[in-house]
Amino acid sequence: MAYAHREIETAAKKLKERFDKLDDKRAILRAPELTALYEQIKTFPAGKPRADFGQEVNALKTELEDLVRQSLAPRRTPLAPIDVTAPFDVNTPADKHPAFLPAKDGSRHPVTQELRTVLDIFYRMGFNAEESPEIDDDYHMFTSLNFPPDHPARDDYDTFITEEGLIAPAHTSTMQNRVMKKYKPDLEAGQGIHVVIPGRVFRNEDLDARHEHTFYQLEGVYVDEGINAGHLVATIKAWLSTYFHKEVKIKIQPFYFPFTEPSFEFAASCPFCDEKGCNICSYTGWIELGGCGMINPNVLKQAGIDSQKYTGFAWGFGIERLVMLKYNIEDIRHFESANLKFLRQL
Ligand code: DAH
Repeated sequence: MAYAHREIETAAKKLKERFDKLDDKRAILRAPELTALYEQIKTFPAGKPRADFGQEVNALKTELEDLVRQSLAPRRTPLAPIDVTAPFDVNTPADKHPAFLPAKDGSRHPVTQELRTVLDIFYRMGFNAEESPEIDDDYHMFTSLNFPPDHPARDDYDTFITEEGLIAPAHTSTMQNRVMKKYKPDLEAGQGIHVVIPGRVFRNEDLDARHEHTFYQLEGVYVDEGINAGHLVATIKAWLSTYFHKEVKIKIQPFYFPFTEPSFEFAASCPFCDEKGCNICSYTGWIELGGCGMINPNVLKQAGIDSQKYTGFAWGFGIERLVMLKYNIEDIRHFESANLKFLRQL
């Protein structure tokens, strides 16, 4: 900005040069030159000459204030979007990227560790594994599993639903329809369907030592010609005996699930006390593990499988519960707590 009064123009030039060199930019507003210009106003004859001079002094002050304000405003340089999967902040200059964290400083989460052990057993028994998604829809969560619309059984799976109708799955049974459709050609080629499905599931729970809002399940699906509940019990017995390194007995008792008929809850004889009763089995001699049953013909039909020709069984259980039993862990909430003191013990 140019000033009509020579003394103001000279002062403005001088002050702006000084401003560039100042550490504390605000000091420019206390410059003696500026005070002197204000003092000078009254030396002008009252009326237009004084008003003109006064207005220019004020304009200079405003110009300096703007400079100060700009110098104090945080500088906005565009930042690269954050890649949450990167092992360091992508906005750090390339030559300052930290090295990858050494693997020795971390370890697998106990649930992952245990899941691998369990999956290994099922691989050796001839099962494939398929992972379940962490966001799903009504069809896979309910309809394909023979839950009629508005059926009260839906209330047992109280979970989180978005306004668009997406569902945080409350169990891994959401995958039954998908795996049956996927492996139907194998079934019809005479190979049978035998799949286990690990997955993360979510429930609207009142949290306590035995209930978490987020946990892991392992689902199993087996379909072939001539399959009956004896095969179901034998399969569960075989894997649990391998898992506990000890021959366990299996007990099933009637239960209700819309997707199986008949439906059961299954329990294993306590491998820690051989049914004598101990604190792990709450002195009952048995450990309840999950749900199972013969796949409801409606569920087979939803997957396009001929329910006259083929039958099958399915089960589902919580992985954390197994880990809790194995390591005598008293509270399920430890698993999602990210508490290193807890994790390092395992
Ligand atoms: N989805 C059931 C639950 O989370 C568990 C279950 C029961 C799974 C019976 C099955 C089954 O595959 O056949 O409570």
